[in-house]
Amino acid sequence: MSEVAKLLIDGKELTFPVIEGSQGEKAIDIRSLRQETGYITFDPGFGNTGTCRSSITYMDGEKGILRYRGFSIEQLAEQSTFVETAFLLITGELPTREELTRTSVYLNDFSPLHESMKAFYQNYPPKAHPMGILSAMVNAMRSFYPELTDIEEEMNKTYLRIISKIRTMAAMAYRISLGERVVYPRPDLCYCGNFLNMMFDSAVVPYRLDDDLIRALNVFWILHADHEQNCSTTAVRVVGSGKVNIYSTISAGISALWGPLHGGANQAVVNMLEKIHNKGFTVKECLAKAKDRNDPFRLYGFGHRVYKTFDPRAKIMKKVCDVVLSKLKRKDPLLEIVQRLEEAALNDSYFKEKNLYPNVDFYSGILLRAMGIPTNMFTVMFAIGRLPGWISQWKEDVADTEMKISRPRQIYSGKQKRDYIPINKRTL
Ligand code: SDX
Repeated sequence: MSEVAKLLIDGKELTFPVIEGSQGEKAIDIRSLRQETGYITFDPGFGNTGTCRSSITYMDGEKGILRYRGFSIEQLAEQSTFVETAFLLITGELPTREELTRTSVYLNDFSPLHESMKAFYQNYPPKAHPMGILSAMVNAMRSFYPELTDIEEEMNKTYLRIISKIRTMAAMAYRISLGERVVYPRPDLCYCGNFLNMMFDSAVVPYRLDDDLIRALNVFWILHADHEQNCSTTAVRVVGSGKVNIYSTISAGISALWGPLHGGANQAVVNMLEKIHNKGFTVKECLAKAKDRNDPFRLYGFGHRVYKTFDPRAKIMKKVCDVVLSKLKRKDPLLEIVQRLEEAALNDSYFKEKNLYPNVDFYSGILLRAMGIPTNMFTVMFAIGRLPGWISQWKEDVADTEMKISRPRQIYSGKQKRDYIPINKRTL
């Protein structure tokens, strides 16, 4: 007999089925709760609430495990590429050589932007944040590519169109913010090499592509490619559940990622490190401020809603940092601060008690700085990496016959019923 959960409400015993996942994690299926009892559950932030069944990414927060479609993040970071990992997330399997070649051809064909989209950039103020530009530009794709069918082959092209163009959009935002000429994508370069070239090529000093940097960028984007039901993916699923087109849905995901508690943390980490460096804060002072509930200072890059041990991505990111910094023979004063902060926090009782460990954002900013990416583009880099994850989760949600439009309930804590008060009778 399958497992059940019993609940005693108002003297009545109720039984609810228990759902078990392929890795043994369990959930109580409470879909009949309100209908049977009039009660709802209460779980602000959904920390104890499963919103879907998914076969895309498996995480074990206690053991620090992360797998995409069953493949460990360690093996993918070591042996795969970002394009191959994107294919895996979206289709469920690693591509054959022919599939990979066909995918690369599409990614190249789709890489230029519609010339009219370039005009959009001209009207942004120079200091406009590239995340706001990216969210708007992806949303604008709906106007340029209105034909959306549910024919799989056509939708696969749509996925690749967004994955290809998001690089061009990001690099264009950067170049135009500097007042520099836009560099167009080249058909002879790989996905990551094209992005770096669009960002940094110059007529004066042609950009020299470096295989180690291209490899580092592949790993960076593989590490960010998906992370099950995180904040921005939940936004994508919620928006998509209303049958919103994929471009606008992804645009919502980009906006949800922007905040410093989520994808914006990589920028917040470097801003924090620069403040520590410039103000000469000691590590001790930083930890004291991070632990002081009355102090808004947070140790960005530390802590995670799911990982209560090391974020496996942070370990890999740290290694890639070392490779790139030694390759570029670059010493970053912020790296030394990061290393001292990490060592102090990992040995601090507050952080240990609260299971706060470095997350993916703690080292990613150091790597991006070493690659010459400006700080305000860090979260854009996260968004480019997370795009295949958002697409795969959106695709799974749309195909899920159990899914309905997302519509949570609430506990009302406002005023009781009262009558309208004419303005001449209102008192302050
Ligand atoms: C990402 O969900 C995902 O999968 C996200 C992500 C992905 O790939 O999509 O992994 C990407 O968003 C990584 C996280 C990036 N954010 C940061 O680095 C910002 C700094 N970290 C936090 O603000 C915080 O840790 C969160 C937002 C990540 C989690 O917040 P929670 O859920 O409130 O953390 P918690 O419940 O585990 O906190 C437990 C305690 C709390 O104190 P008490 O109320 O118990 O006294 O630890 C404290 C928190 O205040 N705490 C911190 C802290 N993180 C948590 N205190 C100081 N510094 C921190 N960084």
